[in-house]
Amino acid sequence: MIASPGTFSVHRDGVAGALMMEGVLLDDIAARFGTPCFVYSKAALVSAYHRLDAALRAARNGRPHLICYAVKANSNLAILRLFAALGSGFDIVSGGELMRVLEAGGDPRKVVFSGLGKTAAEMRLALQANIKCFNVESESELDRLNDVAVALGVEARISLRVNPDVDAKTHPYISTGLKNNKFGIAFDRAIDVYRRATALSHIRIVGVDCHIGSQLTDDKPLREAMQRIVALADSLAREGVMVHHICPGGGIGITYKDEDTIDLKGYADALEASLGARDVELLLEPGRVLVGNAGVLLSRVEFVKPTENKNFLVIDAAMNDLIRPSLYQAHHEVVMTGPFRADASESVYDVVGPVCESADVLAHARSLAARQGDVVAILSAGAYAFVMSSNYNSRLRAAEVMVDGDSATLIRKRESFDDLVGLERLQSS
Ligand code: LLP
Repeated sequence: MIASPGTFSVHRDGVAGALMMEGVLLDDIAARFGTPCFVYSKAALVSAYHRLDAALRAARNGRPHLICYAVKANSNLAILRLFAALGSGFDIVSGGELMRVLEAGGDPRKVVFSGLGKTAAEMRLALQANIKCFNVESESELDRLNDVAVALGVEARISLRVNPDVDAKTHPYISTGLKNNKFGIAFDRAIDVYRRATALSHIRIVGVDCHIGSQLTDDKPLREAMQRIVALADSLAREGVMVHHICPGGGIGITYKDEDTIDLKGYADALEASLGARDVELLLEPGRVLVGNAGVLLSRVEFVKPTENKNFLVIDAAMNDLIRPSLYQAHHEVVMTGPFRADASESVYDVVGPVCESADVLAHARSLAARQGDVVAILSAGAYAFVMSSNYNSRLRAAEVMVDGDSATLIRKRESFDDLVGLERLQSS
């Protein structure tokens, strides 16, 4: 059963009941590209971007805004290319992500660089690419950035990422805006650090930034954080430091099961209300909301394993492919992809992978009519899924496919055994 049709970028074929993404049968994708396999809907990606962009456009009074897609959520080049073509900017957290954005044709002048441990080499790369802004997270980072900019003879545009001390009320592992987090600069210290920044020769202050956490289903904490950073921008203005943009980060949650989440229009209106007549650009750093429900993970049932207390469905995807259930106790819907079967009877299963860890459970206690060889789709697997995958147990990383109408294109090959051991082979001297 799909909790709320339309949310997850898949639907049932009306006659046969087989699961489809756009005009393609997911069983056909599994047969053609193998499993496990991530599949993304181009239409769902575009529509998620347009929904957010339209909400921001409708709310503003001619105010410029820029969506900086958080690359960490899904960094496949095909997805970056698509967002670049839609006019998106990018929020990056490493030199690797910058290289991906550039490779995908993204505009460096729309790139903001977040993260609390930027190396001098990463700063150099980003300064040479002439990115829009560094979100600076500490005083030592500010000094290092100034040094690197001096050496290159260029100016570094910065925001401080401040920590507004607002409880995002999300899972502790993905909550970042509280005092005790490693992220950002304490709100009370922010003005002093900005003052310090004005004294540095090659630093130019252009913004104020924060990010309080991810998968928020209520926008109240986000609104609160926004009010705090707008007040900070006002304090800066009183000292003659005028910022060009204000950014409340990412964090907009999606529906994984049946939960209500943030209404984009309401959130956009609230952001606009906080900004009022101030002449600043609004930036956002959304990740999950743009890609999360545009993707599924296809996996084949290897074995149906009844035991005394529980039934296990052993599938060919595992925690190395999708770590969210193991790491955050995250819920992902699991549905059979096959057509309706008159003879099908459901049993309750724990859906598990082959990895040698008891934590390798992708879903607990799900009612499924499954047989060996059937394909399941794990839903909401567009964000923080493939990007967090690993080779644990020397498993090959999955293939990725993009669906567009009735065509399906491979956008990342399944890894081969050569990929697995290539970097370890002894070099012939
Ligand atoms: N900006 C910054 C500075 C961030 O650290 C993040 C996410 C975002 C933006 C994007 O947040 P979003 O709009 O996607 O919520 N692996 C976890 C999520 C970690 C999020 C890390 N930071 C998960 O699977 O739930």
